[in-house]
Amino acid sequence: MSQQKKQIAECLTTADLWELMMQRVPPIVSEYFRGGADDETTLRGNVRAFQQSMTTAYGALSFSSLDLNTKVVDHSLAVPWYIAPVGSLRALYPMGDAVASQVAGEFGTVMTLSTLSGTPMESVTEASDGNCWFQLYLCGGRETALRGIERAKRAGFSALVLTIDTGVSGLRALHARMKPMQVTGPFRGLGLGGRLKLAVRKLMLAPQMLPRLSWVIEHFRDGGLMQFVNVIDEQGEPMPYADIGVQLAASAVTWNDLKWIKEAWGNKPLIVKGVHCAYDARKAEEMGASGVIWSNHGGRQQDRVPPTLHIVAQEMPLVGDTRLDFMMDGGVRNGTDVLIALSYGIKAVGIGRVTAAGIGAGGHIGLTRAFEIMESDLDRAMRIVGVQSVAEIHARGADIRRESQLDGDGHLPPIVF
Ligand SMILES: Cc1cc2nc3c(=O)[nH]c(=O)nc-3n(C[C@H](O)[C@H](O)[C@H](O)COP(=O)(O)O)c2cc1C
Repeated sequence: MSQQKKQIAECLTTADLWELMMQRVPPIVSEYFRGGADDETTLRGNVRAFQQSMTTAYGALSFSSLDLNTKVVDHSLAVPWYIAPVGSLRALYPMGDAVASQVAGEFGTVMTLSTLSGTPMESVTEASDGNCWFQLYLCGGRETALRGIERAKRAGFSALVLTIDTGVSGLRALHARMKPMQVTGPFRGLGLGGRLKLAVRKLMLAPQMLPRLSWVIEHFRDGGLMQFVNVIDEQGEPMPYADIGVQLAASAVTWNDLKWIKEAWGNKPLIVKGVHCAYDARKAEEMGASGVIWSNHGGRQQDRVPPTLHIVAQEMPLVGDTRLDFMMDGGVRNGTDVLIALSYGIKAVGIGRVTAAGIGAGGHIGLTRAFEIMESDLDRAMRIVGVQSVAEIHARGADIRRESQLDGDGHLPPIVF
């Protein structure tokens, strides 16, 4: 067994996988996946909100089997989580998005492909035995988005996820200071001074690249700096890897856009992601969405918005009568987190950085291990809490949760990611 396989097999938590990812992937890349906006209050809050949540446990129960199946926007999932859209997964691992969809399919669940991804969408659906969803940003404007929607339909994506919380990109200062765009850019078009400066910047990356040669080799074998191959301009050219903040600011979505997006997408489910308040959830339903994802973008957009779990607890009951299916993401790191989210009536949770941890630690085997860990965590938690199925968690709801009476966060574990 290779050293990498052995290390992955020995991982017991998703934090173990995250640490392997940080060892394998150079910081100039991994920081993109780690970071949150501004002071990262919301990033930490997402995780803390779960850590502070308590459950009860009903004893003297024994189940021969558990039922982890759930149903969301007409999709049956064999586990109550799906892969949230994470841009640039291909920077972590060759064809990273296709690897992710393959693993999701093997576990009977869904992978959501980001618009800002480097693997052709056709390869992503082909790699999976299950369903894939396509997450839409309006990069390049309406015509480009319409081309993307048509292509996603042809490629077999079974739901469209429209993200509404990225009118501008959040400031992730640590990564911005690393100047990834300048450092990874080409020498072409630069004068002598510029070339020298860039050469020095590239040389300064040697200390982080040399101990991570396996990543470097795989990265260049996979074609080097990725392009946004799922955003195709009028000339048929993919969008070059450019500053994502600039792209997002030029592509803000408004409620009016939902009309033409829904019309172009047709009858398959439309899901609105990045919802923080009951008002937006109702608006999404009015505009024809069948699902809503409560999400603060993993703490990467507006810092100081509440942790997603608190948004779920506070806002979801205010939506009132609705046919919407609710999902959430943000801070989910283990199976107990999943159980707690489900107890609020959430049908399935999205995993973002856990996906990055798995793919970054070692592609297919890394993400498979992440899923195994989540599954065995959830299995254990359900048996100890005393619930046999997702349906039962939904039915029992608050009955399985307990208020914490501990003050402060001195008793809480450190946040690894
Ligand atoms: C590195 C990274 C890239 C992301 N890219 C996208 C994206 O392209 N589109 C999108 O809708 N959300 C994106 N998200 C947000 C995730 O879909 C999700 O909301 C978030 O990761 C959930 O929090 P978690 O990382 O704690 O699981 C991204 C998140 C991360 C960490």
